Amino acid sequence: MFLSLFLVALIAFIVWRIVDDEVTPLDKLPGPPRKPIVGSTFEFLNISPREMFLKIREFTRDYGDRYVIKIFKRRILHINSVKDVEIVLSHSRNIKKSMPYTFLEAWLGTGLLLSSGAKWHKRRKILTPTFHFNILKSFAVVMEERTRGLVERLRGAGGAEVSLMPVISDYTLFTICETAMGTQLDADKSKSTLAYKKAIMDIGALLLARLTRVWLHNDYIFRKFPIGKQFEKYLHQVHSFADNVIMERKKTWRPGQGDFKEDDESIGKKKRLAMLDLLLEAENKGEIDFEGIREEVNTFMFEGHDTTAMAVVFGLMLIADHQDVQDRLYEELQTILGDSDKAPSMADLNDMKFLEAIIKETLRLYPSVPFIAREITEDFMLDDIPIKKGVEIAVHIYDLHRRADLFPDPETFKPDRFLNGDPIHPYAFVPFSAGPRNCIGQRFAMLEMKCVLSGICRNFKLSRTTNARPALTADMLIRTEEPVLVKFIPRKV
Ligand code: HEM
Repeated sequence: MFLSLFLVALIAFIVWRIVDDEVTPLDKLPGPPRKPIVGSTFEFLNISPREMFLKIREFTRDYGDRYVIKIFKRRILHINSVKDVEIVLSHSRNIKKSMPYTFLEAWLGTGLLLSSGAKWHKRRKILTPTFHFNILKSFAVVMEERTRGLVERLRGAGGAEVSLMPVISDYTLFTICETAMGTQLDADKSKSTLAYKKAIMDIGALLLARLTRVWLHNDYIFRKFPIGKQFEKYLHQVHSFADNVIMERKKTWRPGQGDFKEDDESIGKKKRLAMLDLLLEAENKGEIDFEGIREEVNTFMFEGHDTTAMAVVFGLMLIADHQDVQDRLYEELQTILGDSDKAPSMADLNDMKFLEAIIKETLRLYPSVPFIAREITEDFMLDDIPIKKGVEIAVHIYDLHRRADLFPDPETFKPDRFLNGDPIHPYAFVPFSAGPRNCIGQRFAMLEMKCVLSGICRNFKLSRTTNARPALTADMLIRTEEPVLVKFIPRKV
């Protein structure tokens, strides 16, 4: 008996020495118990997204600004202090995404979200003009048309409670599809379009399920399980849909179509540009190939709809819960747009400062992307602590935004924090991340949120039966456990 125990301990010790042979300064930091070889892996085995979300909040409360979670040999440093967040995000070399992002690669390839090094720099340069003011102006026309459709849909509910997520995600999905690919998803009810919509909605849930099951991390094993097969099926639908759209657009595309002049007034009126047109223009100049276009189209579709949908859902919920805020917002909209039915111009949207503060405060409390992560590619100093190449760093935007030292009374919804108040530290509020790898679609997202929230709030009075905050969970994005229900009472009959 003693001999067997001794042998087991000896083998475990040898394996441990092989698997994990170095002690690093990070091992002095607190964190959930780290066992030999497996580290803290069992803390996360097969837990639900909600349990995972709560566990991380618990760790932040128990271990403070910095803690380490070890999954076998992987050391993941979790940070939520503004000082650390600034050092990590502003560092020009910390641009490589960490391991969990690789699960997205089968879908997005190494497009802008996932690429690093020279490829990322090149793509960022090609794609930045896509969000030029004049192009955004053209996208605003699409957003406005879609908002009108949404308002009619909400009116159709006749004042009954509406579950927000399905309607709002239709809105953002249709908007990004039209602006990115030039395709009207709602006008086409073909089998492939419906399959695309379902696949794009469900694929995120499968990715998270994979993340919390370490035995599915290996690609070969993942593909053998039903979840892997389902993922492959969705992937095929998403890719072939995007490929068809690109091919179709290519057929009618002429050189110069994606060129635009900064003062071209016809953009958004006679001339409707999609992001795809700009990518085809880049292909024509030899800057990107077909595979590259496909990567970027898929990346925009992924990053550009659910993120905004979650922000709009939480925004509407908070507006419904705070009648004083709603009244002030309505007053602002009346001042800018009056009783008219006219579409807001870019200048009108820019003038909606209180709405902007509401959106920011919503993103503070409910950042659509609650955490982001990096893999360190060169040794560097995080203030006083040396970080070795290979370490992963998770930045907890959600916890940063709820720190009482940065945002007094952090749980309370107070849009006034963002109105001429005390200056907020540039890295204390980072829903779109910050530094070189910040969100390229930030201005697009702000414009879309302003369009849709102003369109809804000038037409309806919002209320909820219960003002209780919903239980939260997260896959790659923040979500609610229960549907968020809001009543939309028409202001004018
Ligand atoms: C409320 C809406 C949005 C939020 C909160 C948001 C947030 C973020 C965050 C936090 C990142 C950094 C991700 C990371 O470091 O891993 C990011 C990156 C990115 N976002 Fe957004 N996003 C939003 C909307 C959009 C939209 C509408 C688009 C496209 C039209 C978009 C396109 C991208 C892309 C392409 C990246 C990768 C940029 C790069 O690495 O260079 N996002 N976003």
